[in-house]
Amino acid sequence: MKVKNLRLIVLLALVAAVFSLQSCEGNDPKGPDCNIPNADLTYTLNMKGIIDQHCVSCHAPGSGVAGAVGDFRTYDGIENYLHNGDVLETVVIDKTMPQGGGMSQAQRDSINCWLAAGHPQ
Ligand code: HEC
Repeated sequence: MKVKNLRLIVLLALVAAVFSLQSCEGNDPKGPDCNIPNADLTYTLNMKGIIDQHCVSCHAPGSGVAGAVGDFRTYDGIENYLHNGDVLETVVIDKTMPQGGGMSQAQRDSINCWLAAGHPQ
């Protein structure tokens, strides 16, 4: 009886491990289809400049803007919000960010294509 219980627990732990691994693998939420042919965009070459210009005034420590999450000065600082779909939702879909506007549709499209490609660094 005790051995059976142990086996059941081990089995459940394995199942849980498999599910949690799957949820880490490249399943970022998807937005609209990318509309830029051969978009080959990276954080360093294409996105950092846009984010520095449009996001960092609020989304960085010391900005004094309450609720502006994260530290978007680096890839590491924004990465969570790329994975969980918050950037897709706020910038591409709802367009509530950047707060105050000022971002062109072309820039939103390029962010969408970059996210769709798995936001390479
Ligand atoms: C003028 C200040 C300002 C700028 C510029 C700005 N944000 Fe924000 N952002 C905020 C504030 C304030 C909040 C929290 C309140 C809210 O969600 O509206 C927020 C929230 C967010 C959230 C979290 C939303 C959620 O659902 O939790 C994300 C993601 C985000 N911003 C992304 C961006 C990105 C990406 C940019 C640049 C393209 C940007 N923001 C530019 C002020 C700003």
